[in-house]
Amino acid sequence: EIKGFIFDLDGVITDTAELHYRSWKKLADEEGIPFTREDNEQLRGVSRRKSLELLLNGREVPEEKKLEMMDRKNNYYKEFIKQITEEDLLPGAKELLDELKSRGYKLAVASASKNAKPVIKNLGVEHVFDQISDGYSVEKTKPAPDLFLYTAKQLGLKPEECVVIEDAEAGIEAALAAGMTAVGIGPEERVGKAHFRYDKVADINLDDILA
Ligand code: G6P
Ligand code: MG
Repeated sequence: EIKGFIFDLDGVITDTAELHYRSWKKLADEEGIPFTREDNEQLRGVSRRKSLELLLNGREVPEEKKLEMMDRKNNYYKEFIKQITEEDLLPGAKELLDELKSRGYKLAVASASKNAKPVIKNLGVEHVFDQISDGYSVEKTKPAPDLFLYTAKQLGLKPEECVVIEDAEAGIEAALAAGMTAVGIGPEERVGKAHFRYDKVADINLDDILA
């Protein structure tokens, strides 16, 4: 029996995937590294360090410079997220959260981002969640199941009682590895392994998932 819903943040509740992209793009331009929107698809749901490695694409860079680059990207990102308001909730996200809450489900965010808390605060949905897990919560990032398992535990639920909503391939893999029901948001190529798939959050059909 399903008792809780665990939401990814970036690309599910709000389109920060775009802001992450613009921040990496700015860094890449400064460094003369080619980086396209298409390249960015691989970075969805991936940790900051892994994202940098993907962007560097085999270029050798000393550790100190890597730290500086991650820091620079994060500073650009922090500037972008200052502007976030409740208008930046993706269509259907607030309605879905309210509906689930009124039906009595436990709700959580499980994001790999160390910036998740300020983003949720700016979106004005902090109070809706029983648990907010972020980039500080566990060591091993998605596709490892750790963040979702930790979140379920904090909610007092078993993995099989949880539904995960994710836009990233790494996130779907993590949800499946955790033994949870996986709902993918996005194209088949990216989230096709999920139990259910929708193009957009607004398309989610709760009755299908809960049946
Ligand atoms: C999420 C996003 C990724 C981001 C990661 C780390 O998973 O989907 O694009 O790289 O969080 O975010 P952070 O804010 O800690 O750099
Ligand atoms: Mg995401």
